[in-house]
Amino acid sequence: MINVAVVGATGMVGQTFITVLEEYQLPIDKIVFLASERSKGKTVTFNGKSYPVEVLDEHSFDQPLDYALFSAGGDTSKKYAPIAAAHGVTVIDNSSAWRMDPTVPLVVPEVNPEAAVEHHGIIANPNCSTIQSVIPLQALKPWGLKRVVYSTYQAVSGSGYKGVSDLKANLSGQPSTFYPKTILHNVLPHIDVFLPNGATKEEEKMVNETRKILGLPSLRCTATCVRVPVFNGHSVAINVELEKPFALDDILNALEAQAGLKVLREGYPTPLDVSGQDLTMVGRVRRDESLENGLNLWVVADNIRKGAASNAIQIMQKLMEVQS
Ligand code: A2P
Repeated sequence: MINVAVVGATGMVGQTFITVLEEYQLPIDKIVFLASERSKGKTVTFNGKSYPVEVLDEHSFDQPLDYALFSAGGDTSKKYAPIAAAHGVTVIDNSSAWRMDPTVPLVVPEVNPEAAVEHHGIIANPNCSTIQSVIPLQALKPWGLKRVVYSTYQAVSGSGYKGVSDLKANLSGQPSTFYPKTILHNVLPHIDVFLPNGATKEEEKMVNETRKILGLPSLRCTATCVRVPVFNGHSVAINVELEKPFALDDILNALEAQAGLKVLREGYPTPLDVSGQDLTMVGRVRRDESLENGLNLWVVADNIRKGAASNAIQIMQKLMEVQS
């Protein structure tokens, strides 16, 4: 039996932690729900029972807890994850705060589960678009990854309730208050902040996290990340240059053998197809005739489930398996 804290329980990912924990029926003895001062007096329902939302503070981890699932933003994670870890709690953190720390494993259970066990109290959950992208890339490793080009089509749920509210507001004729421009009937090549080199932080995250998870620190990789007016489900068009020649059927077989991935040989997956499930779907697998060993893939996943809450809980399950 485990004791679990959910930090950021009132947020979009926090609420999905609750849904996924209920679905997976993990052996939870005690569970606590934490958020900010703003949520004082609120309750959440878990397995049919109502729980108060408690205010996160320095003493939140003084109680016996085994795991803390964090999704309350980078600043909260930076401050409170080390406090939790110092109390012997294993933190699985959905923010970007710890992902590139060399002492913190960055884990997708279908790709690098072995990294999870080497933690020092904090494990990072990768960026949503990165999680769904490295799953098919892992299957392509036998052919050697020479260069990867990502183009993303990211849903507004990736920005939490603020993003969803903006799309809803635009649908009822109101302006955006979170996004810098109207998101309805539009696409915004602007996710997270701009960096001095002209890339966005989201694009930098995809490149750096892909290298770390796949264990390929010098992989040539680039990304353009775009917010689209879709409520839920991220899509990524991946262009890959492989080192070795390939038969397309062998590639399809390798993708089909990859854990966590569903391959469509006919048709193609869309955000509505994947919303509410944990499998990543890939379709439109085809040669890129402009390169010697080029391949194009269309990869879709539920960014709040596999891209955030479910991946974190699957990391926790892996650790529970190792410890049992
Ligand atoms: P709250 O609802 O009390 O503000 P989202 O990503 O959907 O915006 O959700 C963010 C989550 O992180 C919410 O649960 C929010 O709680 C929580 N959160 C934000 N800042 C803090 C903080 N300083 N301490 C604790 N929880 C926080």
